[in-house]
Amino acid sequence: MSVLNKIALKILSNGKGILAADESNGTMTNRLESVNVPSTPENRLLFRETLFSSDGMKDFIGGVILYDETINQTSRSKKSIPELISISGAVPGIKVDTGAKVLAGSNEEKITEGLDGLRERLQIYYKLGARFTKWRGVYNISDKFPSKLSIQSNAHALARYSALVQECGMVPIVEPEVLMDGDHSAEICLKKTTEVIKKCFEELMIHKIDLSGIILKPNMILAGTTSNKKTSSEEVAKFTLKCLKESVPLEVPGIAFLSGGQTEIEATKNLNLINRYNDTNFIMTYSYGRALQQSALKFWSKNIKDINGTQKVFNHRANMCTLAAQGKWSVELEPK
Ligand code: 13P
Repeated sequence: MSVLNKIALKILSNGKGILAADESNGTMTNRLESVNVPSTPENRLLFRETLFSSDGMKDFIGGVILYDETINQTSRSKKSIPELISISGAVPGIKVDTGAKVLAGSNEEKITEGLDGLRERLQIYYKLGARFTKWRGVYNISDKFPSKLSIQSNAHALARYSALVQECGMVPIVEPEVLMDGDHSAEICLKKTTEVIKKCFEELMIHKIDLSGIILKPNMILAGTTSNKKTSSEEVAKFTLKCLKESVPLEVPGIAFLSGGQTEIEATKNLNLINRYNDTNFIMTYSYGRALQQSALKFWSKNIKDINGTQKVFNHRANMCTLAAQGKWSVELEPK
């Protein structure tokens, strides 16, 4: 077993999942302002540190994705944030792309940037304690999109990123996110997502990536948010498994889904059914941002001094997601 494979399995095994707390300052400002909390470095740290020091970390969370600001901050207990995360048994990770910009040649689509100087930045993050990384490619669905250009160029960037990350001794999360925006059907989402993921692996193989030392972070297969047909959890599970069986090489140890705008309960219920029906050898777990933090953020914004109360809300959500990652969740476990 390679070192990278060991790290990936440590993050994903036993129903554990990933806490995606890597919102950029811009995104975090939107999240905090939506609950009327000013977005200062202190408030961003306080909320995140509250989650990272909760009891649920030990039992449910295998890895935490950080943003550059947070990996350089110090907790109230005077520990560095990666140290605080490691104490709970989870692996610290870091988002290393610098965001999605307009794709020249197809101006309504995006290309993710951040390859310039990446080798040097990775070495700094490794020294700070990171052992895995994230890079997100983003794709829209419409009758014309995603274009060949977007599928090809984002896959190429994901592969070049992955090669540099593995060279530095860390596990790359490969995140091709096909967005839920639009009125497309689940069948179209299935077709386009399968095409996107296949191309990513084609490029990863050209770039000689050790596939046993990566984590794939895809979207689940769902109809678009403005489609008039809602995809049932049964369909989500069936379509998502079909997509991954067709597109993901067997060496990949695990898949950690993004929540992508699903509610907490939807993201939990869908993951649960995916695991009930999972007839592959892939670990199927979560790497949620909003679907792990939404309720905790809402509670905290109204009770900013109540650290224990906020942690209780987060622990519950993480517990539910971990049950879903084992196919053991049921709606009766949720508070009424
Ligand atoms: P969501 O679960 O909120 O989609 O965030 C996951 C993530 O990391 C997106 O890049």
